[in-house]
Amino acid sequence: MDVVALLAEIESIGRLSDGGYRRFALTDAEAQLNEWFDSTAASLGLAVEEDRNGNRWAWWGDPSQGSAIATGSHLDSVSRGGAYDGPLGIASAFAAVARLKAAGKEPTQPLAVSCFTDEEGGRFGVACLGSRLAAGKITAERALGLRDDDGISMAEAVRARGRRPAHLGPDPQRLQRVATFIELHVEQGRGLVDTDHAVAVGTAVWPHGRWRVEFSGRADHAGTAHMDDRVDPMLHLAQFITVAKESARARDTLPQAARATVGRVQVLPNAVNAIPAQVLAWLDARASSETLLDELIEAIVAETNVQLSEESRTPRQVFDPSLGAHLAHLLGDVPLLDSGAGHDAGVLADAGVSTAMLFVRNPTGISHAPEEFAEEVDLRAGVDALTAVLSDLLGIDKTEQPA
Ligand code: GLV
Ligand code: MN
Ligand code: MN
Repeated sequence: MDVVALLAEIESIGRLSDGGYRRFALTDAEAQLNEWFDSTAASLGLAVEEDRNGNRWAWWGDPSQGSAIATGSHLDSVSRGGAYDGPLGIASAFAAVARLKAAGKEPTQPLAVSCFTDEEGGRFGVACLGSRLAAGKITAERALGLRDDDGISMAEAVRARGRRPAHLGPDPQRLQRVATFIELHVEQGRGLVDTDHAVAVGTAVWPHGRWRVEFSGRADHAGTAHMDDRVDPMLHLAQFITVAKESARARDTLPQAARATVGRVQVLPNAVNAIPAQVLAWLDARASSETLLDELIEAIVAETNVQLSEESRTPRQVFDPSLGAHLAHLLGDVPLLDSGAGHDAGVLADAGVSTAMLFVRNPTGISHAPEEFAEEVDLRAGVDALTAVLSDLLGIDKTEQPA
């Protein structure tokens, strides 16, 4: 079972005409990807379980034994996303398990390939929804009330897929079975581009959050309303974006990092020849430290005088430092990288699971876009690394390791 061939099996699912992907939660694309996950697991003799939040676990061994090792990622994408963010971690996990099986290894503790649903929050706006629900980091009530761009609530979308909204919620016992979680992921920046390494080990996820901001105006005719007699919310949005970017840029200086992005807006009525009545925009802000993120948000608010409504805020999530150091050494003293991108691995780390990430070189350094890429040789190096990591971990009961 080869990682390149596995990715090719799903390359047409949710593919847009420009080569990007739109694989949102609770859609036909997700259902097809889940079918692929289930049949690939079955071909390896793994038993698939869908948990109460729609996350999938393909088990080798008996999960009730506890102290399991899980490895995986997600299959959903942002709108017009790339082919690797998420699916690479799952395809590599299956390829690594196939290698272990072919080598006649028998794990002494259960091993799962896991797939978390709605990691990107592309449809309902909150990222890592499947893992956050499982870890109790968001209530089912709040999640089910989230709405997509068509006004469909998550509860309605869950029902439309034949599932019961009341089923969603915290799943501490299921998570407690997992002692160690390894997420392999395509690198989403330029951390490995100019190095001799195909693989790095992740150390932490930066603090990050999403805020909604609303600008109200007065709808009017684009031709008849005098330029001096307008209340145009688009101008306020333009000013807000400029301030957000400048505030981040002023702080985005090594060794620290600060980022601010407005990547999503909704305009009412969204007509070429009408001054908008209202504009909604979403700010995504991240920074290398909690204090810097606070400072960035405060600076934006102070300069624009807008009211930001927080939709999610995730603190710095640190992966198990001793596991990370051990794996970096095991893999040949590969680089250690922080992540400006969010990951389910961060949510699991926060929930007390010993967690590590492996990043596979991306020569374009671009992600969340069709240009996201990894060379075949690096994809296979990623599977080599994951196989080595799993082999090393098998038989080690983390719960019995000294603290
Ligand atoms: C997920 O990829 C995120 O960082 O937003
Ligand atoms: Mn992503
Ligand atoms: Mn991802």
